[in-house]
Amino acid sequence: MERVRIGVIGLGIMGELYARIYSTHPLAELVAVSTRRQERLAEVAKRTGVKNTYTDYRKMLERNDLDAVVVATPDSFHFQPARAVLESGRHVLVEKPLTTRVDEADELLRIAQRRGRKIQVAFNHRWLSPYQQAKAALVSGKIGQPLAAYARKNDTIFVPTEYISWAGQTTSAWFLSSHDVDLIRWLLEAEPVEARALGRKEVLAARGIPTYDVIQAQVKFSSGAFATFESAWIYPNTFPSIVDSFVEVLATAGHIHMDRKYESIEVSSKDSFSYPKGFLTGEIFGRVRGAFPSCLEDFLFAVREDTAPHVTGLDGRQVTAALEAIHQSLETGSSEPVRPLPADLQAAYARR
Ligand SMILES: NC(=O)c1ccc[n+]([C@@H]2O[C@H](COP(=O)([O-])OP(=O)(O)OC[C@H]3O[C@@H](n4cnc5c(N)ncnc54)[C@H](O)[C@@H]3O)[C@@H](O)[C@H]2O)c1
Repeated sequence: MERVRIGVIGLGIMGELYARIYSTHPLAELVAVSTRRQERLAEVAKRTGVKNTYTDYRKMLERNDLDAVVVATPDSFHFQPARAVLESGRHVLVEKPLTTRVDEADELLRIAQRRGRKIQVAFNHRWLSPYQQAKAALVSGKIGQPLAAYARKNDTIFVPTEYISWAGQTTSAWFLSSHDVDLIRWLLEAEPVEARALGRKEVLAARGIPTYDVIQAQVKFSSGAFATFESAWIYPNTFPSIVDSFVEVLATAGHIHMDRKYESIEVSSKDSFSYPKGFLTGEIFGRVRGAFPSCLEDFLFAVREDTAPHVTGLDGRQVTAALEAIHQSLETGSSEPVRPLPADLQAAYARR
């Protein structure tokens, strides 16, 4: 395969970025895009030069010149397009979280297995150098055995009120902590087994957005380690960064602290003071570079070289399972078990 022929479903902020990156990548050919609004299709076609546009992704999947498709629809609308992509015999790159129900994630894993197709989940933080260094430090054993972890991802209120229009159909935990659950599970090399969580609905609910302002969840892992996941999205917009973010692991012989509130640059002007972001995506010499494009590039390598993606459907499923238990606990007020991988999938994925 010379170039991987790509389609994109969902052309919002992220979908356009996928289309832009793949339209200029030498190993990719952006063949077709799909989103619900015709005007948006025209806009993205003009910016990326993509020739084939669809308001219905099922029509796009009838083409016979696609190798792989990106799903970049809102959090709770990944399942149906991802299932249709896999059923059509294509590999799929799904935005995080893989799905917002674990039975849906299990179904995707079964279809991928049956059709021999790949699922990669775009947990793009795994392509950030500090997290890779943390992983290497843990694997080397120099900080001992992980005992506990803490991960915060708190956005400004701009995100649920202006950046996305569907905050009321997701939660800060699905939108933000999904990244952190993936990172901690990967760093600890252990599976989530039990979760309990508390949340508050005050500020956003008063503004007509029926979702949590803040969620704090504690998850127990199979190794005995536990982690706290904090997500909120009501910081005032005067906060100098769109996200206040850190991940910390405490181990028997040391600790690791990864801070992403500040990405090495601060800018002050007469009107504002800010910490601009650039590590995930940044414009460098006319191209989008950073951890996010690297994540997209590695999906091309996995498809071309027929290797396993670095972040698989199974990884995505386990994150969804932990988050499902967190949301059950928010409802019940009790600790909830994380649904283990069903026996048929355990057998199928153990063979790999
Ligand atoms: N990895 C990251 O750092 C990161 C950052 C932001 C968002 N995201 C994730 O990316 C996904 C998309 O987020 P976004 O910010 O681009 O949202 P968005 O609202 O800007 O875009 C979503 C798009 O999907 C389209 N859509 C919805 N249903 C569709 C359907 N059935 N068929 C075709 N198109 C459909 C909408 O019209 C919209 O254009 C979410 O899952 C979000 O959590 C990831």
